[in-house]
Amino acid sequence: MRIAVVGATGEVGRMMVKVLEEYGIEPSELRLYASRRSAGTKLIFQDREITVSELTEEAMKDGFDYALFSAGADVSKHFAPIAASHGTIVIDNSSAFRLVEGIPLVVPEINGYLVDDYRGIIANPNCSTIQMVLSLYTVHREFEIRRIVVSTYQAVSGAGRKAIDELQKQMEGSDEHSIFPQKIHLNVIPQIGSFDETGFSTEELKMINETRKILNDPSIDVVPTTVRVPVLYGHSEAVYVETKKPFESYQQLRETIERAEDVKIVDDFVTPLEVAGSDIVYVSRIRVLDENRFVFWNVADNIRVGAATNAVRILKRSLGGAT
Ligand SMILES: NC(=O)c1ccc[n+]([C@@H]2O[C@H](COP(=O)([O-])OP(=O)(O)OC[C@H]3O[C@@H](n4cnc5c(N)ncnc54)[C@H](OP(=O)(O)O)[C@@H]3O)[C@@H](O)[C@H]2O)c1
Repeated sequence: MRIAVVGATGEVGRMMVKVLEEYGIEPSELRLYASRRSAGTKLIFQDREITVSELTEEAMKDGFDYALFSAGADVSKHFAPIAASHGTIVIDNSSAFRLVEGIPLVVPEINGYLVDDYRGIIANPNCSTIQMVLSLYTVHREFEIRRIVVSTYQAVSGAGRKAIDELQKQMEGSDEHSIFPQKIHLNVIPQIGSFDETGFSTEELKMINETRKILNDPSIDVVPTTVRVPVLYGHSEAVYVETKKPFESYQQLRETIERAEDVKIVDDFVTPLEVAGSDIVYVSRIRVLDENRFVFWNVADNIRVGAATNAVRILKRSLGGAT
């Protein structure tokens, strides 16, 4: 099996290489690509040193079994169709194809069946959406979600390596910012992406539209406010949910959430510092308001659960393995 990772030197790409190794994927060949800037960089996979190459159209015509893309939407829009047209199954971490009809938007625990016997481009959802739908898909199956009101507390790593550098420089005294619209150190910023004419940010629109596509229900009302916080790794979310069908008790609701794969309920509460490196979504502080309404707190490693691990789980499912 030949695998390519595009954007291999980025926050997500480096983690993809690590997670491929951790999940026991044994490619006969692993090729790593980035821009010309970091061609020549050496990364380690299974004790082997692999040199990063510059991404080119020629390289994408090479017919890989899988290509994991994580180099931004523009790169994906240009290069992923070239790879796919040469027989490669593309797992794309960018927003380029997520809402395109016919392209599966996959969280393997929820709708992994979409990639069985599928060839072409598969979209990996937005990080905040993945951890939210993982903690809610069993609730939706049992009680049909009517409305979700969510506030996010998103780590700077969600904006890539340069964003982490920006926070770290500010922690050392710098006042400069170019990645975030304001200084993020000792601050919170209620803007992720750009605002459209309705006032919602692109990150909020992703949460609205991708939740509906993954849960296969365009009627779900999703009302997000996405906020960047000065945390390095781990997104948190405060989530309010209304269901159409009533649940009988806190216990029944809790057991329903517990049935979700790769989700764990914690009795106290969990913070982002504790989840870095984990592939689990942690749910805590479940509070029942009445038989149709509850609130909870969830936390997950955005680079793993929200990106790299989800991509590798898609690859495993596509290979015919369990998630
Ligand atoms: N961070 C997250 O939590 C997260 C979660 C879900 C999805 N994503 C998505 O994943 C993608 C990457 O995010 P990231 O956080 O890993 O960003 P990042 O740390 O900034 O890394 C970007 C990667 O893309 C490469 N790249 C940039 N322009 C390129 C070009 N023209 N040709 C080839 N390679 C190019 C970079 O290579 P150089 O080293 O050469 O610059 C680097 O390897 C984005 O689409 C992002 O929206 C990120």
